[in-house]
Amino acid sequence: MDINSIKTAARKKFAGVCRVCPICNGVACAGEVPGMGGLGSGSAFYHNIQALADCRLNLRTVHSVKKTDLTCRVLGLDLAMPVIGAAIGGIALNMNGAVTEEEYAKAIVNGCRKAGSIGMTGDGPQPVVFDSGMAAIAKEQGWGIPVIKPRDPEKIVELAKQAAAAGCPAFGMDIDAAALVNMTNAGQPVGPKTIEELEFIKNHTTIPFIVKGIMTPDDAEACWQAGVDAIVVSNHGGRALDHTPGTAEVLPYIVEAVKGKMTVLVDGGIRSGADVLKMLALGADAVLLGRTLAIAAVGGGAEGVELVLNQYKAELSAAMLLTGTDQVSDVPVEILW
Ligand SMILES: Cc1cc2nc3c(=O)[nH]c(=O)nc-3n(C[C@H](O)[C@H](O)[C@H](O)COP(=O)(O)O)c2cc1C
Repeated sequence: MDINSIKTAARKKFAGVCRVCPICNGVACAGEVPGMGGLGSGSAFYHNIQALADCRLNLRTVHSVKKTDLTCRVLGLDLAMPVIGAAIGGIALNMNGAVTEEEYAKAIVNGCRKAGSIGMTGDGPQPVVFDSGMAAIAKEQGWGIPVIKPRDPEKIVELAKQAAAAGCPAFGMDIDAAALVNMTNAGQPVGPKTIEELEFIKNHTTIPFIVKGIMTPDDAEACWQAGVDAIVVSNHGGRALDHTPGTAEVLPYIVEAVKGKMTVLVDGGIRSGADVLKMLALGADAVLLGRTLAIAAVGGGAEGVELVLNQYKAELSAAMLLTGTDQVSDVPVEILW
């Protein structure tokens, strides 16, 4: 198995719902939600890619860095590199059933673990989405992070307690899914949360609470005030609201507001180890990969996910050497042009 065979197999299984383009930038699939694209014009997805492309690296080779250390501690977890599998749910709806929900969750959670990372799992209107994630995590003795839709706070607490009982080291809530009509239509209302509601969730749960889908310093500050442990700077891969900026554009402002107070993760358009390094230089503690690992999981299962993550490891290490960076925990902004 190699990257090309994974992509070929994925292209076949997706049967058009994802073209597995040479550059995964949301242009061919603009507006395809459900599907793998970005919402509406697809601009929020595209902005993620463009923001990272606009961010350039200084090639530096006259220095004393001879080897790189990719290991890190994120939310108390020891990881082989600061790269985590993003939550992707609704496989039947979004991927035309290219694989089952169970197969998908297993591939992500198991593949991430094998690569020394950790995978997140999703939530959706059908119980099978959350349950498949939890089943995959249980198979890995709790080594996974379920991300719960912004349901009623009591329901979130109930599901987070389930995660804690399964041994999960943290749980998340993708707050940017606040306007997801298919949840509300299925009798499972979602919506934005007040600081008090975030506090309620935090105060009634025992494992670290991650809020995913933060795009402004004010929202990040509000999460911090509520006692949230980590945020993911994310626009849901451009699937929540059309016309948002790219995550790499807003990240530095958010980091300035909450750096040192809480863990800051980021996702959106990260397509190489060099992109990971750019996000770290902009102040993120770690990054999440969405569609990249979706293609790997569909085309190659857990083995495909592991292989792609190992490729990111090699690319990140090479980019670090070529910018004079030895530690992922200390990436200076000066490596950016
Ligand atoms: C088909 C699809 C389904 C998704 N489902 C979820 C989900 O259930 N929960 C969640 O938190 N994020 C979900 N996301 C967003 C991802 O977790 C992540 O934020 C995004 O894919 C990152 O951008 P990238 O794909 O460009 O890497 C989904 C994304 C896609 C493409």
